[in-house]
Amino acid sequence: MEIQEEIEEIKKEKNAIILAHNYQPKEIQEIADFIGDSLELCLKITKIKDKDMVVFCGVDFMAETAYILSPDKKILIPDPAAECQMAHMLKVSDIKKAKKKYPDAAVVLYVNTLAEAKAEADIICTSANAVEVVNSLDEDTIIFGPDRNLAMYVAKNTDKKIIPVPEDGHCYVHKMFKPEHFIRLKEKYPDAEILVHPECDPEVQELADHILSTGGMIRRTMESDSKEFIIGTEVDLCTRIEREVPNKKAIPAYKEAICEEMKYHSLKKLRNSLIEEKYEVKVPKKIAKKAKSAINRMIEIFN
Ligand code: 13P
Ligand code: SF4
Repeated sequence: MEIQEEIEEIKKEKNAIILAHNYQPKEIQEIADFIGDSLELCLKITKIKDKDMVVFCGVDFMAETAYILSPDKKILIPDPAAECQMAHMLKVSDIKKAKKKYPDAAVVLYVNTLAEAKAEADIICTSANAVEVVNSLDEDTIIFGPDRNLAMYVAKNTDKKIIPVPEDGHCYVHKMFKPEHFIRLKEKYPDAEILVHPECDPEVQELADHILSTGGMIRRTMESDSKEFIIGTEVDLCTRIEREVPNKKAIPAYKEAICEEMKYHSLKKLRNSLIEEKYEVKVPKKIAKKAKSAINRMIEIFN
């Protein structure tokens, strides 16, 4: 039996669902029941009512968020080493220090944070809604972390004062993009639209026609009249566009922009995860309760 068939069989037996982030490799995208960006995955998890188990092919903070939003289900991650390096850059002590310095500020944290950090936030945001979340608040000063580039993008699009925490939080994958990558490709594909993720550096964002989350990029390729798109995010987003929007051409701006941790999952690990019901992701109750209210505050705005 092919491994894909085996996975389908065990999945049914265990009443499980497979969720995957847009950066998962082709073979995982093909077997997943739902693929999305961080916001779409958060919203999806709140709507799964009839499953006992969720296998999350993404990074640690995504599986943690799934548990926080749906603790009655068994949440599994095929490889627990799949950690988002950016999420690990923000320490609870950094947030506490910033709160002391700016006591009147609201704390807005990117979903790319660990649960213990989320527990310190007033509200969570994703790359799809960061500006709207910040603008929805009454406070004029916003402590924002951990991505400095996303913080700067928000600062550009709001009148509020944005305090980035930590000083230099970043995504190593999106830091790989340089203006030359886009300039060179634009010479070759002059009609192509440039779509860039807000985790990219400001000089890269400046070259973009649109700054979007990964889900926003997919929608743009579907809705735009353009036929070609130069994509400034992790390479496997182009895999998803190729699969689902085959009449459009998605050109990766830089083919080496690979999130290594997202690729830790494989079909073999996914099968073992289902069979052995590992690796289970849980969050301590007290932290989960506080983090959930910050995530729900975001969901209430966008659901
Ligand atoms: P999206 O929510 O846009 O998919 O971003 C998630 C992420 O980790 C980007 O690096
Ligand atoms: Fe984290 Fe960057 Fe990987 Fe996204 S691409 S999961 S921000 S390390």
